[in-house]
Amino acid sequence: MDYSCLKFATRALRVGQDPEGRFKPVIPPIFQSTTFAWEDLDHIPGVDYTRCQNPNRLILEQVIATLENGKHCTLFSSGMAAIAACFSLLQQGDHLLMAGDIYGGTFRLGEQWLPRSGVSVSEFCAHNPLTIADEVRPSTRMIIFETPTNPNLRVSDIAAVVTEAKRHGLIVVFDNTFASPALQNPLDLGVDIVLHSTTKYISGHSDVIGGATITNDSELGTWLFEYNKAFGATPSPFDCWLSLRGVKTLACRMDQHSRNAQAVAEYLQGHPKVKSVHYPGLPSHPDHETAKKQMRGFGGMVAVDFDSVETARQVAESTRVFLLAESLGGVESLVAYPPLMSHATMSEEQRLSKGIPPSMLRLSVGIEDPVDLIEDLRRALG
Ligand SMILES: Cc1ncc(COP(=O)(O)O)c(C=O)c1O
Repeated sequence: MDYSCLKFATRALRVGQDPEGRFKPVIPPIFQSTTFAWEDLDHIPGVDYTRCQNPNRLILEQVIATLENGKHCTLFSSGMAAIAACFSLLQQGDHLLMAGDIYGGTFRLGEQWLPRSGVSVSEFCAHNPLTIADEVRPSTRMIIFETPTNPNLRVSDIAAVVTEAKRHGLIVVFDNTFASPALQNPLDLGVDIVLHSTTKYISGHSDVIGGATITNDSELGTWLFEYNKAFGATPSPFDCWLSLRGVKTLACRMDQHSRNAQAVAEYLQGHPKVKSVHYPGLPSHPDHETAKKQMRGFGGMVAVDFDSVETARQVAESTRVFLLAESLGGVESLVAYPPLMSHATMSEEQRLSKGIPPSMLRLSVGIEDPVDLIEDLRRALG
């Protein structure tokens, strides 16, 4: 079947999944086999050993590639393994420009581990792409950024960052975890490598850890695949099967996440104990127009700065529908406290400089009935 004419939601359900074999199962079975038989010594099978490739991984790679409008997808055992694979393109003496407003784990890898391999790292502001020129050094090779950002949901202009980065010949890496391919496709805007923590929206059910890189550049695609084979941080067949099941509903989940987050953000915006609400779907958000331009929805993440640390603590500890837990992107709503969770690696001073005060909570708004979510927050706020 020719999938190229199909729309996003249909591709998620059908690409690489035509029933085949003796029983023609509608759902691809779990290929729980480490090794696959060869016909003879003249023909090396496309799938021969599960660390290198596996049918469940192959199908999911095809689906995620098509959803990101990319040609080459490589799956990893976590989002961090996917980020580390991108950084493997750097070698001793190279310099990486990393957005100041980035996931804490990426920050940790950049700040604590890359310098050990002789790679220097400095920050740039993705909201002011013209400043990239001031930060670039002769040794700068790569730039990495994400939008909407974690946790304060700023939205930078992806195409504008790409234009500036390309003027300096940089490899552009973009973390699309927060938006998911349902809401934006950075490869279409000129990004070289898109990466995901598939743990989040792509899988969507908080039951599997995984990562992915997607690119249209065959040299980069081969590098990432070969790196993965060499270092072996590959996902299990069952994890790929779970993620494939999850990604089938990505389009409709993202619709509901976005609707619920909008309702929650609008409710919180008017509350007397709330100082500010960070949600790109609010017309008052400083990047609302940029978000409207490059996203097909505003997503499920909301950050809230309360009137005090005590109020933030009270809300975090007393919601019942929102569960107090790390992570995001699952069907159930979660409330997170960045200083102890996603941004624990940073000092208080570093967090403050990045606009993450101790009175801030991050909400991953799920797909429950929005009436229950708002009632839960209303009760928790007393
Ligand atoms: C934006 C973003 N990128 C990458 C990661 C790392 O993903 P993983 O936990 O699957 O390694 C996370 C994890 O929270 C994240 O939020």
